[in-house]
Amino acid sequence: MQIQLDTQPYASIPGDALVTYVFDKENKFDGVLGDIDRAMNGRLGSLAASGELTGKALELVLIHFPEGLAAQRLLLVGAGKPEKFAVSDLRKIAGTALRHLKSRGAKKLIFLTREGEREPAAAQAVVEGLIAGDFESDKYRTEKKDREVQSVALAGFDAGLGANLTAAIDQGRILGESQNFARDLILEPSNRLTPRMLAAKAEAMAKEVGLGIEILDERKITELKMGALIGVAQGSVEPPRVIVLRYTPKNAPAGGPVLGLVGKAVTFDTGGISIKPAANMEKMKYDMGGGATMLGAMRALAFLKPSVPVIAVIPATENMPGGRAQKPGDVQVAMSGKTIEVINTDAEGRLILADGVFYARKLGCTHLIDAATLTGAIEVALANVHVGAFGTPREYLDKFLESAKAAGEKMWPMPMDEEYEQMIKSDIADIRNTGSGKGGGASTGAWFIKEFAEDTPWIHLDIASTCWVDEGRPWQAKGPTGVALRSIVDFALKM
Ligand code: BES
Ligand code: MN
Ligand code: ZN
Repeated sequence: MQIQLDTQPYASIPGDALVTYVFDKENKFDGVLGDIDRAMNGRLGSLAASGELTGKALELVLIHFPEGLAAQRLLLVGAGKPEKFAVSDLRKIAGTALRHLKSRGAKKLIFLTREGEREPAAAQAVVEGLIAGDFESDKYRTEKKDREVQSVALAGFDAGLGANLTAAIDQGRILGESQNFARDLILEPSNRLTPRMLAAKAEAMAKEVGLGIEILDERKITELKMGALIGVAQGSVEPPRVIVLRYTPKNAPAGGPVLGLVGKAVTFDTGGISIKPAANMEKMKYDMGGGATMLGAMRALAFLKPSVPVIAVIPATENMPGGRAQKPGDVQVAMSGKTIEVINTDAEGRLILADGVFYARKLGCTHLIDAATLTGAIEVALANVHVGAFGTPREYLDKFLESAKAAGEKMWPMPMDEEYEQMIKSDIADIRNTGSGKGGGASTGAWFIKEFAEDTPWIHLDIASTCWVDEGRPWQAKGPTGVALRSIVDFALKM
């Protein structure tokens, strides 16, 4: 999909549809909307009066052969109440419009921003929304829908903004494409994406965008004594891998911060000996979503070049109940030396993250973010609305939540009180991998990881319920979402 700035008057740009947006209860159209209304002899006014055009969020009104426009159709997307509107809402508006028009066979679109949204950030949001909205998951269908939006012209922007505007459009494209890169990986079934295959894909991506890469194989993993990761991997015939990606900025000052991104990549989670029920088990192919998110974030950072060095550490394994699998009650020694009583082999994500987080610190990371499809409990707490965001110290988490807001990704701060730490004390080892007692499953999971982050500023994103959606949304196809990537990239760029 080509996306380019078009500085011609919007009314004379030909195409299958021109898209713009209308605010809630906006009955006196002004600016470009006033012009469009006048050219159509007040048709928008009559649509508003009849109640068909209300401007409520993501309402769609499609008008064919609009007078005064060179485009074949005019699509008006509801923008909701103006006092609630933020530039980041343009993502959903653009994504919704693209999906609606694509399903109707439109190939050439014009997106017209209104007078209030003509800064570079608006262009970036529109581009991100268009590219993310274009994602489709029919890779393994032999008969594809041959629908494709070929081009989108961005109209309304002032060419005088020049380089800033083109940079914002590029950034939007990089973010949207990196998000879709992560979503492609998340969609892959486990027979087509084993830990070794994931490592190979990471390697190809790193070569393409110019990141440093090292793949730790089972020998190296054993040599490093990553006992928690090995404990999970030993139940499978597929060997584990640890993917290490490095972004090194030019002239990074010595002794400055180094950001570590640690992603859970369980390419399939059967639960191990504590095996999962059959219903919905197929979903566990997306248990590598945290790792994919970090790969996508690194891809974006390779282009966007923050001033902070970034290292991604992605432990990748299957969780299988093979003959050599670890069993409930087994004690494993993590790379850090801490001993872990494995109460439930299905709480495997925290085990592999224990070694991932510790190894990231060994490599010199001074600040950490991990992303993981860690617990079913986070779905009970937040449904598929918010990512559960944990972290210490609190100020570090709060900074991150600002980035989430800027990126338009919903995240909710979750508690890290010491009472949760008490729940992972073991009778025979240093810690146990599940909480004792009832409830708080997402927080005990987070505390387990913190045992290995210790005092390093650390954020944990539980994306178990937000990494994949079972139902499509107007702006987003069902399936993998790529959530958290944009927030992480925003945070790294501001660090
Ligand atoms: N991968 C799962 C968590 C998950 C559940 C992700 C649903 C996506 C959708 C994780 O490894 C897991 O099994 N967690 C257990 C932990 C429990 C045994 C303490 C859970 O949440 O049930
Ligand atoms: Mn599990
Ligand atoms: Zn899992």
